[in-house]
Amino acid sequence: MTAQKSNPGQKAWGGVFNQATDPRMEDFTESIRFDKRLYRQDIAGSQAHARMLAKVGILTSDECRQIVDGLQAIQEEIESGNFPWRKELEDIHMHIERALIERIGDTGRKLHTGRSRNDQVSTDFRLWIRDAIDELDGLLKRLQQAFVERCDADFDCILPGYTHTQRAQPVLAPHYWLAYCEKYERDRQRLADCRKRVNTLSLGAAALAGTSIPIDRFETARLLGFEAVAANSLDVSSDRDFALEFTFALALIAEHLSTWAEEWILWSTVEFRFIRLPQRFCTGSSIMPQKVNPDLLELIRGKTGRVIGDLQTLLVLVKGLPLAYNRDLQEDKEPVFDAFDTVRASLDLAADMVREMELDRESIASKLDRGYLDATTFMEFLIQRGIPQRTAHGMVGRLVRRAMDAGIRLADLPLGDFQAECPELDASVYDILGVEKAISAFCSYGSTASAEVRKQIDYWKTRLSELIIDN
Ligand code: ARG
Repeated sequence: MTAQKSNPGQKAWGGVFNQATDPRMEDFTESIRFDKRLYRQDIAGSQAHARMLAKVGILTSDECRQIVDGLQAIQEEIESGNFPWRKELEDIHMHIERALIERIGDTGRKLHTGRSRNDQVSTDFRLWIRDAIDELDGLLKRLQQAFVERCDADFDCILPGYTHTQRAQPVLAPHYWLAYCEKYERDRQRLADCRKRVNTLSLGAAALAGTSIPIDRFETARLLGFEAVAANSLDVSSDRDFALEFTFALALIAEHLSTWAEEWILWSTVEFRFIRLPQRFCTGSSIMPQKVNPDLLELIRGKTGRVIGDLQTLLVLVKGLPLAYNRDLQEDKEPVFDAFDTVRASLDLAADMVREMELDRESIASKLDRGYLDATTFMEFLIQRGIPQRTAHGMVGRLVRRAMDAGIRLADLPLGDFQAECPELDASVYDILGVEKAISAFCSYGSTASAEVRKQIDYWKTRLSELIIDN
């Protein structure tokens, strides 16, 4: 039986209304502009819901088939670009339901049994974020691989390591590359952990209290590949923790990218001249003909601001919202989409940048003797000859001062200067001075010692190729 009466504005919820919606109100409240992006998830969620309703006997198998097929046809129409988007239908859920009713008639009016848009939108968003996490994992892995692939060729390149952006100790180039692999590995772990909480079924919580229709939420969860079913309907309607956690993970990825971008921007300057960036990722100046600017790296660094802003938007959005659903929550999608789009594009481009960057080995080598990078391992050499650390620190400090004043390296000081500080020293002191010798002195686990770095490269090669097989 068709029970549709005319109602103001033909809204799905219009029965109780005695005024049509103000068009400005429609403009202000519609979300279809951005939530159309959830169409596939909305359709998958509705198909699973219909199948579950059929399984528990609320829909006949014929009704279920009509709904599932009708939704499939709507998906194809959307993908062909011919689907009419109408702001008076508010959001993606209303669009698809209305299109279904127009397509299959009264049977379509049964789809919304035992659910509400509140649990529906949460389900769609969880499905979308689950896919987004899987895509990001692949992009992070690709970026890690780009770093690992450089390691063998760059193995013997020594770079200055910095603290406070002041020259500190020498490190092997692959030690730098693997430092970034570690950060992106934690990002992947964070996303995988977040995925567990994302992968929980909201549907069936209905508006806020559940439903008197005997639905089977575990069946819906099974159909959609959710690992758990949210246990409290009131919590589900208000919960956006999963979206916030996801955006935090994105913000931290953006932070890691910006650290790397900043480093390579510096390294590409004339002042450093450690690296040459691929020009296909640079741009020039409209006034200074000689300029080749690292715009891609600058924008990767700059866009971190918007991702952090997206996280901030979400944190403020949910603050103080009473249980359960509030329309404020509609504002959750744009920041998440924006953060994801930004980080996805950054990761994708970063991997190519890492592959194509060229080390300027000559320039690096010509500057490696500056900055007394060997001072700390020299101090450790003295410690191993029985001199207390604080005493050795003072001795080396005075020797560095002496070399600095003379404008020479530690290795250029005459033996007499070393013996004046420490009479037991003999010519073997020269075996520890200079960056190459400093590098060979390292031995601790996780250090820049060649053997340690080699082990780490092997570890990463195996780990990343294992994951390829796993996937
Ligand atoms: N477009 C809404 C959102 O994104 C869907 C839920 C609306 N629910 C409601 N009762 N108005 O949050």
